[in-house]
Amino acid sequence: MSARKPARAVKDVVEAAAGKVADVLTPDAPGAPGSAPPPVAEPTTPHGPLPPKGEQGAPDTRSPTGAPTGAPTTANGQQGAYLTTSQGARLRDTDHSLKAGPRGPILLQDHHFREKITHFDHERIPERVVHARGTGAHGVFVGYGTAEPITRAGFLARGRETEVFVRFSTVLGSRGSADTVRDTRGFATKFYTDEGTFDLVANNMPVFFIQDAIKFPDIIHAGKPHPDREIPQAQSAHDTFWDFVSLHTEAQHHTMWNMSDRGIPRSYRMMEGFGVHTFRLVNAAGETVLVKFHWKPQLGVHSLTWEEAQLLGGVDPDFHRRDLYDAIEAGAYPEWELGVQVLPDTPEETFAGIDLLDPTKIVPEELAPVQPIGRLTLNRTPTNFFAETEQVAFHVGHLPPGIDVTNDPLLQGRLFSYVDTQLTRLGGPNFSQIPVNRPHAPVNDMLRDGFHQQAVHAGVAPYRPNSLDGGNPFPAGDAEGAFVDVPVTVAQAPKARANPASFDDHFSQVRLFWLSMSAVEREHIVRAYTFELGKCYHQAIRERQLACLANVDPVLCAQVAAGLGLPAPEPTVPLADVAPSPALSQVGREWPADGRTVGIVVDPDAGVDGVGQVQRAVIAAGMVPLLIAPHGGTVGGLPVQRTFATGRSVEFDALLVAGAPAPAPDALPARDAKAGAPGPAAVDPRVLLLVQECWRHAKAIGAWGPGVAVLESAGVVGTPGVVAGDSGDDALAAVQRLLAAHRVWERFPASLA
Ligand code: HEM
Repeated sequence: MSARKPARAVKDVVEAAAGKVADVLTPDAPGAPGSAPPPVAEPTTPHGPLPPKGEQGAPDTRSPTGAPTGAPTTANGQQGAYLTTSQGARLRDTDHSLKAGPRGPILLQDHHFREKITHFDHERIPERVVHARGTGAHGVFVGYGTAEPITRAGFLARGRETEVFVRFSTVLGSRGSADTVRDTRGFATKFYTDEGTFDLVANNMPVFFIQDAIKFPDIIHAGKPHPDREIPQAQSAHDTFWDFVSLHTEAQHHTMWNMSDRGIPRSYRMMEGFGVHTFRLVNAAGETVLVKFHWKPQLGVHSLTWEEAQLLGGVDPDFHRRDLYDAIEAGAYPEWELGVQVLPDTPEETFAGIDLLDPTKIVPEELAPVQPIGRLTLNRTPTNFFAETEQVAFHVGHLPPGIDVTNDPLLQGRLFSYVDTQLTRLGGPNFSQIPVNRPHAPVNDMLRDGFHQQAVHAGVAPYRPNSLDGGNPFPAGDAEGAFVDVPVTVAQAPKARANPASFDDHFSQVRLFWLSMSAVEREHIVRAYTFELGKCYHQAIRERQLACLANVDPVLCAQVAAGLGLPAPEPTVPLADVAPSPALSQVGREWPADGRTVGIVVDPDAGVDGVGQVQRAVIAAGMVPLLIAPHGGTVGGLPVQRTFATGRSVEFDALLVAGAPAPAPDALPARDAKAGAPGPAAVDPRVLLLVQECWRHAKAIGAWGPGVAVLESAGVVGTPGVVAGDSGDDALAAVQRLLAAHRVWERFPASLA
């Protein structure tokens, strides 16, 4: 595990309260905007732009052709103390347009007005046609050297550090949609290697809905909002999605992954990533292997509960963005190991009977273990969302020497699609010159001109062969590290619009996934199918999807059918005889709790004895403590981060209750009851709601001192995962042990064996 910086802001505050730091300016949790606390009065003394926040990074300052400039990254930001036009002329007034007298019309000559409004009018660019909603971070990748026998890619060499930019995303929703919807997540990584950029454009699920890229518009049109009313947003729970996947049965495997807990991740930090396709690696001797890429999160794979996901859609639609930024700001840097399943490169391109060109199939890890080849750490948030996260452009064809594609027909189509869409999205052919897309390897192409050309190309001969530019650029040979396409033999066959026969198996691995789930995970899957199909208007679609589920498993089919009030159909194909893959289940192991959020409820009337010590212990464990009190400001000298009005259970991974606060003045019984909080009691109803929601979502709950009375009022004492400690330290230690398993799974009694 890497060294952790504690949650700086909170730590400062806790230490201040303990008398160790005299002057703390921002008594706040991670996420405060701006790099310095603002004064109350409007600042009037001119000074240069404030620096970015400490945790923020920016693209390396490279020239458009990849040369290091040595300039600080702030050189790309605004300069000087004074307001200027885009041409650098200083301005006296930007609040009033130039008019023919105070009551007259605006003059056409007001260039500042026109420049300001025109630029604003063109601030938006098209959102991505898929994966529009996303967030990104900068980081570093360090190779282990373990891949050297199988690939000549230099960035995988032992100890080699490569800068990266990662963008996580949902697939279906618009740019402003909620983070916690049920969907596949994108996990795209740009490695700025010195042999050319490598983009691993991955998802958090190892299979895809379709086997051939020509179907991509079909699956996306089916999943996007209906074209007539443009609803529902960022959802698969509607007729067109289920219409398509029930008719197009190769989609069933990916659909079940979406219906599983993988469709609602707890955090981007807690997701696996998969390259999905099989790639071909080639080593220095020209030998090849086939591989599947995997990202393994250091924190384990964890999910929200469905109710949490829905609440978060309203309470905090930016939950995953915030979680990523806050964790990095708090120093809990997310980490993943990159690994490969290594498979022999045979003419059949199969492994253990699995067709490696079929992107609806996995290779179970039990058959081909994932071998770690490097580590990714995300350690800087973007300085500017648009410049970096919105303008980053990934492409599956960005490959360094040593990594090549296969003939997977989905991958082949992707090789065309990304650059095609980016031509429109980023307004022309020169988007590789946008700072976040600039390679960190010298660029000497013969691409010229076009909209927004940033490079100033010298010479007169952007063609080959030439003599007028002295023959430059020259083709590189093996010794100069050229990318060489692997000379794969393509079997002789008639030209055809057809799949190999092996692509016809659409159900065996869906069953494999279902059988690999624990009872509680299966129950979540049943509920997800029942919810989604229950939201469809047409019974024919429900019946058709049930017929698909019958080919997966009779228990699954019967349970979903019962929820829909329909008979469970019989299978139309024999149930596959498959061995489960335990690696697919998220339950049953223990993980570090770094970057988790622990809410601490305090009662100002009872004092905060021991609370500061618990906060420090939470920070020492790499987690973020958030004090929850009836009002803002401070309680017993400790700053309050959430009030009963602003805090909701869904943002905490665990809850500690240090006091039993009576209803605060703003606890209005009628209003709180409408919001679901239990009625008037000796304890503030919002605290009881907090405890009961944490309980319902199977989170660890601890209390000590007067806080134990709250657990009693909430009726949760003596149930699994609820601990009453003798002291704060005791309660925290117990809660920490529970957090290792992510949730108190015993609280979800499973009705499925
Ligand atoms: C294994 C299958 C696939 C995976 C893992 C995948 C993954 C991704 C990811 C992660 C992104 C977001 C990139 C970003 O953050 O900017 C993305 C965007 C996109 N994908 Fe895919 N995708 C797959 C299949 C396809 C197919 C088959 C097509 C088309 C034939 C396609 C077309 C696109 C397009 C057009 C974008 C938007 C790119 C942009 O505007 O910059 N994808 N994909």
